[in-house]
Amino acid sequence: MSKHAATATEPRNHPPSARIAVLGCGNMGHTLLQGLVSGGCPPDLLRGADPSAARRAQLKDLKIPGYATAGEAIAGADAVLVAVKPGQVPGLLREIRNTLPPGALLLSIAAGIRLRTLQAALPPDTPIVRAMPNTPALIGAGITGLCATARLDPRLRRRAEAILRSVGSTLWIEPEQLMDTVTALSGSGPAYFFYFLECLETAAVELGLPTEQARLLARHTALGAAQMSFSGNSSAAPVDLAGLRRAVTSPGGTTEAALREFQDAGLEDITRRALRAAQRRADSLSEPSE
Ligand SMILES: NC(=O)c1ccc[n+]([C@@H]2O[C@H](COP(=O)([O-])OP(=O)(O)OC[C@H]3O[C@@H](n4cnc5c(N)ncnc54)[C@H](OP(=O)(O)O)[C@@H]3O)[C@@H](O)[C@H]2O)c1
Repeated sequence: MSKHAATATEPRNHPPSARIAVLGCGNMGHTLLQGLVSGGCPPDLLRGADPSAARRAQLKDLKIPGYATAGEAIAGADAVLVAVKPGQVPGLLREIRNTLPPGALLLSIAAGIRLRTLQAALPPDTPIVRAMPNTPALIGAGITGLCATARLDPRLRRRAEAILRSVGSTLWIEPEQLMDTVTALSGSGPAYFFYFLECLETAAVELGLPTEQARLLARHTALGAAQMSFSGNSSAAPVDLAGLRRAVTSPGGTTEAALREFQDAGLEDITRRALRAAQRRADSLSEPSE
């Protein structure tokens, strides 16, 4: 088996039993807290910090204590999850560096902020994991790429995994450089599929289908195809896509006619260029080490 053979761990097996402080309770921070609670994590193990009173009020509905400052929320935490905007990370790390509980795991989901930058801003030997979730996390169907500092305690790796599994599947990525490719594929990827669905729906409406019917047909087709690519079950091994495609492409048939148009227009090359553009952009957004 190759070193990089991929097995995504499935969501929501065992809720983490650690005390977790989430710093930044916006879209992602709140989603993670919500996922943790609905996955069975007791709310009294959780804390949230956000300067916005409205964001803190949302935590009340989850019975999670909310604090205006990060320093208050991290007291006694076993894991500290950084969920502020990338530009807000340096200020936040300065705020917590002297009060981070010894041995606490620092888990950052900030796009483009590299492990070495996090390490440089925190006490030496702070265990750190960097993660890239994606927006289907909002409905518990995300996939998160994770990467850790060298020699991270396996217990802390499992803790990081358990936290992110509250909103979907997880996959360890190595070396860290590949996180830019993860950003290009799964981080930005939901938008590619939304765009393709928009194109399909528009084309079907132009061919005479009522809008609502075009929407239903396109989206159910996408869902069914995605499920088939995992043998109908996302925990099953992925199936060979070319084989699935060939099975629905009769020689001289309708599918073949459409696929030939995609191929003649260079869809494979367009996709390659699009992913490279996203990867380059992710790399350029990563700040130099401090
Ligand atoms: N959204 C996604 O799909 C997605 C996907 C992958 C990764 N991410 C990463 O997740 C992170 C959060 O993104 P988001 O979309 O959830 O952002 P967001 O909705 O803007 O949430 C960030 C929250 O953090 C608060 N905050 C700022 N400084 C703080 C501090 N010092 N202590 C505590 N809270 C503080 C912000 O308050 P103010 O608004 O008052 O500043 C805001 O409420 C980003 O780094 C992003 O790269 C997001």
